Amino acid sequence: MHDNHVFTHRFEPGSGPERPPLLLLHGTGGDENDLVPLGRALAPGAALLSPRGPVLENGMPRFFRRLSEGVFDEADLRRRAGDLADFVVEARAAYGIAAPIALGFSNGANIAAATLLLRPEALAGAILIRAMVPLADPPSADLAAKPVLILSGAADPIVPAENAGRLGAMLERAGARVEHHRLPAGHGIGQGDLALARAWIAANAA
Ligand code: MLT
Repeated sequence: MHDNHVFTHRFEPGSGPERPPLLLLHGTGGDENDLVPLGRALAPGAALLSPRGPVLENGMPRFFRRLSEGVFDEADLRRRAGDLADFVVEARAAYGIAAPIALGFSNGANIAAATLLLRPEALAGAILIRAMVPLADPPSADLAAKPVLILSGAADPIVPAENAGRLGAMLERAGARVEHHRLPAGHGIGQGDLALARAWIAANAA
C-alpha cells in the first residue's frame, strides 16, 4: 500500500476466507478504532478494514467536506469516494481479501452510499446506518443486485424520513436489493440496529 490513496487504517484479518470482509466507515469525529468492536460483534471471524476519514472539520475526521449539516460539498464527495474505492482496491491486493461489505454510520454511511453509486465494483454490498441521499444528481449506476441494508431513525434530527426514503428508492432504481427499516430511534445507533444488522449479515454475508 504505497501510493497516495493510503488512508490511515486498521486491518484485522479474518479467521477464515468464507466470510466477506467488512469496510468500517465511522461517523463525524470518529476514527478507525470506533467501529471495530461493532464489526467484530456483527460478523465474528470476518476480516475488518477500517480507514480513518481523511478530511478534518474543526479537528473532527470525516470522509468528505460539507458546507453545513446535511449540505454536502459534492465535488469533494465525488473525489473522496473515488479515493476510498481506490484504497479498497489496494487494500484487497495488499491483504488478499474479497470485495468488502461497507458498514457505515452517519458520515461513513453517506460516503458508502456515494461509493455504491459512483464505484459500485468496489463494494459487495452495504449496511447504511442513518444515511441520506449523498448526491443530488447521481450517475446511472448498475448495482447488479448487490444487497443493501438501510437503517433509519424515525426521529433522526439530521436525516428526514423523506430523504432516507429517496435514498432507498435511488439505490433500488440502480438495481440494488434494498432492505429498509425505520426504527423508533434518533441519529444514534441502538440495540435495534444491532439486531437487524446481525440478522441481515447472517442472511446476506455469511
Ligand atoms: C454528514 O455530514 O455526512 C451528515 O450530516 C451526517 C453527519 O456526519 O453528521
